[in-house]
Amino acid sequence: MSTFSSSRDSRDTAQASSWPSTAEAELLPRPTGARKKPAIERLKTRLEEDRVTRIALNFLDRFMGVHLKDGVVDWMDDRRLGMCGQDVVNFGSDSFLGFDRDVRVQAAIVEGMQEWGTHNGSSRAFGNIALCEEAEHRLARWMGVEDTLIYPSVTLANIGLLPALAGKGDLLVLDRKSHDSLHQSALIAAGNGAKLVVLDPCDSDTLGETLQTEDYEGCVVAVDGIYSMTGEMPPLREMDEVTRAHGGILYVDDAHGTALVGPKGRGAASMVLESIDNALIVGSLSKAFSCLGAFVTCDTRLKRLLKIRSSTFVFGGPVPPPYLAGICKVCDILESPEHDEHLRRLRQMVAQLISGIRSLELTMCGGEAAIVGVTVGDIEQTFKAGKAMFDRGYYVQSATYPAVPIMGGLLRIQVNANHTPGDVAGLLKALSEVKSEFGLGSN
Ligand SMILES: Cc1ncc(COP(=O)(O)O)c(C=O)c1O
Repeated sequence: MSTFSSSRDSRDTAQASSWPSTAEAELLPRPTGARKKPAIERLKTRLEEDRVTRIALNFLDRFMGVHLKDGVVDWMDDRRLGMCGQDVVNFGSDSFLGFDRDVRVQAAIVEGMQEWGTHNGSSRAFGNIALCEEAEHRLARWMGVEDTLIYPSVTLANIGLLPALAGKGDLLVLDRKSHDSLHQSALIAAGNGAKLVVLDPCDSDTLGETLQTEDYEGCVVAVDGIYSMTGEMPPLREMDEVTRAHGGILYVDDAHGTALVGPKGRGAASMVLESIDNALIVGSLSKAFSCLGAFVTCDTRLKRLLKIRSSTFVFGGPVPPPYLAGICKVCDILESPEHDEHLRRLRQMVAQLISGIRSLELTMCGGEAAIVGVTVGDIEQTFKAGKAMFDRGYYVQSATYPAVPIMGGLLRIQVNANHTPGDVAGLLKALSEVKSEFGLGSN
């Protein structure tokens, strides 16, 4: 063995020095793969070739310095921020009630950390800390339901819930305009055997026809409470009626309605449905709550089942204790008369904005909760209009494809309860200038 080895070594050495020469080697066919790029580079090329990616990269490159997506925020305070060397009023924040700067919420988060540490370091499948139980019960009391189950984000709630609720033999109907996380979750449910029907439009007629025609054991109809880009509301009441009539349940991702609309701020479904007893409502703990996570309304029996069936609950981590403490503090505020004052101020700012946009005869949408969209149209104009607002001292988001239809570019304005009438008046003045500069359409 060793002899063979050494003789082969010496032959290889001889060959290496005499044949082939470098020039000859260039002429030889290369072994398969030798000229190929490393697999990781080929993977990146494949990703770049995707249609949506190509469109996005094209715009990002062409409008570098205009789209603000690479802008780094240097500082933030109550409702202002510094970016790209400019100090602007922030109309792009989900902290709709200003709790991100509330000293009581901040103190609760610090105390939660001091008491429980930064993270309890264990999946909830192995048990809960008392603070998590408390937060779930506090949320349930505020929402007026028997119980809730907390997830680390709305996306993880949707991904854990929809496939748990609809499987083989079941029908899952999804409003096409719903958030991407519902679409991704629905695809997992469909992969597990649920029949998926995506409706556009998802009004009571098309929904009724679908539920009438399809064969199913169980049925879940999933929809956003407030569409996150346009700020509009789907016809939840009609959808609930049709869904109930056909023995289904309504699943509402209310990320942008949580704590903002309806009695006690219980959200879009609570605002328009006679009862939410046939609906599962997913609320965000990251947006108006300014903490972290999501919850779903349920009763004790369903909660027990979800703890077994919901994959992101079983296989994922918890919301860290500091944020659970923050969530309990926000619940205190939401259950106090102070919340009415926050909502009153928020509605006042939204009303001032809507009335100003109408006076400017701009095409607008939304305003049901705290998001208002101003239509621009194509992607290039939308980026440029957003930058023009920024240059005038107002940060709003340029919402473009694929978040909205390809020619449905919007200036997405997020109003906060701690904006002032002066902030809104200034924003409207900037909008009127941008309207002239870009020839924005009238209603
Ligand atoms: C309707 C809706 N669902 C889900 C999400 C995702 O929320 P999260 O960041 O908690 O995953 C958003 C985020 O904006 C949203 O608007």
